[in-house]
Amino acid sequence: MQSITITTPDDFHLHVRDGELMRLVVPHTARRFARAIIMPNLVPPIVSTELARQYRERILAAVPSDASFEPLMTLYLTEQTPAAEIAVAKASGYVHAVKWYPVGATTNSHHGVQNIEKCFEVLEAMQQHDLPLLVHPETTDPAVDTFDREAVFIDRVLAPVIERFPNLRVVLEHVTTHQGVQFVQAASSRVAATITAHHCLLNRVALFEGGLRPHHYCLPILKREEHRVAVMEAATSGHPRFFLGTDSAPHARTAKEAACGCAGIYTAHAAIELYAEVFDRAGTLDKLEAFASLNGAKFYGLPRNTTPIVLERKAWNVPESFSFGKDAIVPFRAGCQVGFQLVDGSEFERLA
Ligand code: NCD
Ligand code: ZN
Repeated sequence: MQSITITTPDDFHLHVRDGELMRLVVPHTARRFARAIIMPNLVPPIVSTELARQYRERILAAVPSDASFEPLMTLYLTEQTPAAEIAVAKASGYVHAVKWYPVGATTNSHHGVQNIEKCFEVLEAMQQHDLPLLVHPETTDPAVDTFDREAVFIDRVLAPVIERFPNLRVVLEHVTTHQGVQFVQAASSRVAATITAHHCLLNRVALFEGGLRPHHYCLPILKREEHRVAVMEAATSGHPRFFLGTDSAPHARTAKEAACGCAGIYTAHAAIELYAEVFDRAGTLDKLEAFASLNGAKFYGLPRNTTPIVLERKAWNVPESFSFGKDAIVPFRAGCQVGFQLVDGSEFERLA
């Protein structure tokens, strides 16, 4: 098979930042995806429907005129979030979920949740209004090893919350372990997970190949090979409750290549192409469309996209960097190749 045509995909976990960086990265996503769940971890965070409305306007202004792209907004859950905000968010039509960051778990999570019990009224309202809860599932207990934080959080914190709110729709974001995969498989139809391309393509060895590799540092951190295999198998299995979420998370090169570097891998420049590589390696390219374009929309209750995209099996070179003012964004596979290419224009007619 030299090319594959699928329904235009959606990215159910994306960081586009704001300002100049947003204007650099949004076109990469808008070229490939019809919609994306926009993460709210800005400084200051997107804690209200009104802030989400303003942020959405700024994102739309960054979409190239020849692209059509819909940002699906989220609210950043805090211990001060009023339960009444949930009805407002739901009624807006543009807020599609609420994100739970355990305080200190990742980039800009310091306004996040220390004690989830303080948010139970909000979760109750979300359950009532059927607004999904998106979870960064990692404990921040410093006594727990970084590589075990997902499994421990699921056991100690998440499982009891899901039991308490059985009708709440919950997405385990960027699942990275076999424990996470098994938890979702055993859970009810209201529990799903997103999977990144990089957690399917790399294991933790990639952090240390020939030296310390800051551009492979993200949270949750890359795991051992057995976990990569479990996550890759879940993505490529056709299971309806696993779907695409890139977690593309750009940081300036100087913030990545530092004594205390930021977590986040930038993949939006080649996102669907990288997933095509994953499915091709697994021998299940026929299941890419369900994972990338159908399962997530169904879980979120969104209509299917109606246009197609075409991917051709053809290697291309990823730039060493994208210039960002005086700084740069170093993308995933910088200076190396990606094995699939997105086709557009007249080429598209030939291959579709
Ligand atoms: C994300 C970021 O930089 O915003 N970083 C990351 O490593 N994935 C935050 C997150 O999703 O954890
Ligand atoms: Zn993220």
